[in-house]
Amino acid sequence: MSYFRENIERMEGYTPGFQPKGEGWIKLNTNENPFPPSPKVIESLHAAIDGRIRLYPDPLSDRVRDKVGSVYGVDRECVIVGNGCDEVLAIAARSFVGEGDRLLMTRPTYTLYRVLGEIQGAEVIEVRLKNDFSLPAEIFSHKAELTCISNPNPPSGILYSREEMEELVRRAGGVVVIDEAYVDFAAQDCLEMAKTHDNVIIARSFSKYLSVAGLRLGFAVADKSLISGMMKVKDSYNVNCLSQVAAVAALDDLNYYREVVRKVCQERDILSQGLQRLGWKVFPSQANFVFAVPDRLPASQVYEELYQRKILVRYFDSPETRHGLRITIGTTEQNRRLLEAVEEITGGKE
Ligand SMILES: Cc1ncc(COP(=O)(O)O)c(C=O)c1O
Repeated sequence: MSYFRENIERMEGYTPGFQPKGEGWIKLNTNENPFPPSPKVIESLHAAIDGRIRLYPDPLSDRVRDKVGSVYGVDRECVIVGNGCDEVLAIAARSFVGEGDRLLMTRPTYTLYRVLGEIQGAEVIEVRLKNDFSLPAEIFSHKAELTCISNPNPPSGILYSREEMEELVRRAGGVVVIDEAYVDFAAQDCLEMAKTHDNVIIARSFSKYLSVAGLRLGFAVADKSLISGMMKVKDSYNVNCLSQVAAVAALDDLNYYREVVRKVCQERDILSQGLQRLGWKVFPSQANFVFAVPDRLPASQVYEELYQRKILVRYFDSPETRHGLRITIGTTEQNRRLLEAVEEITGGKE
């Protein structure tokens, strides 16, 4: 006999990327930033570690909200801070869908959306992307209480246009979360839509762009009516005191991060061209990863052989994605070693 609610019993849960133990791995599987956070973030953390950790953190993360507000041109009331972008997404699911409601998403995308919908007992509608990972017309034919769309979208890194996002918001009704966890590596974003639509939530992560995945920080920008409701749903002290300090320090040093983004995008081009030279197909990514399809060997075999060489990339064994590998952009040296290993495994271009 199970003590669980039926929907929890039935669901599979989210499978996070593998976090290797031990040294010597080249870790290109969970889209972390390969470059360190700003030195000012580290300094701020050192300065904050003292007896004050006895106290609970600010439950509202107001200094972070103010900082986000000043960087992105919105009032504090339009910002919620989360324990990672994941928590922001969870708060949205808990706020806007329940049993009998619909959560609309694409396939493939970030699989957490399905899990969050299932926890709520919502009906999850997955619309399959076209083979080039672009949006099919079908996505505009569904109504849903909550739509979750990642832009750029994993695992391809393809960026949907603003017009497509506007159309989706018009057609889906309900609340639309545009998950911009990777948007800082892209040519444009949809943040303005959170200012002009009362049903659009823009979700962002500190994990990729700001290089502090371990601190678990994310935020959302939306109309103050949505944010004030979501504030009721979040855990009371959802962001710890050290993370709040680091968040402000990171947002205070955006010049440093502009250079980080430039390097990641440059490495993305070098890696994509390198893989293409070896005969792989690489989808045009606007994120800090690429989806690449080997020309001769099955992706699963290349994954295994890279693993033997202590190089971790991501292989998703589903019909839409099993032909390729999602590879996080690493440092120059990591990317070079990946390309060398790929050449050794696949024998170069015929
Ligand atoms: C599309 C997308 N959104 C959100 C997240 C989670 O971000 P965070 O680390 O801020 O929780 C990820 C993590 O991989 C992601 O791929």
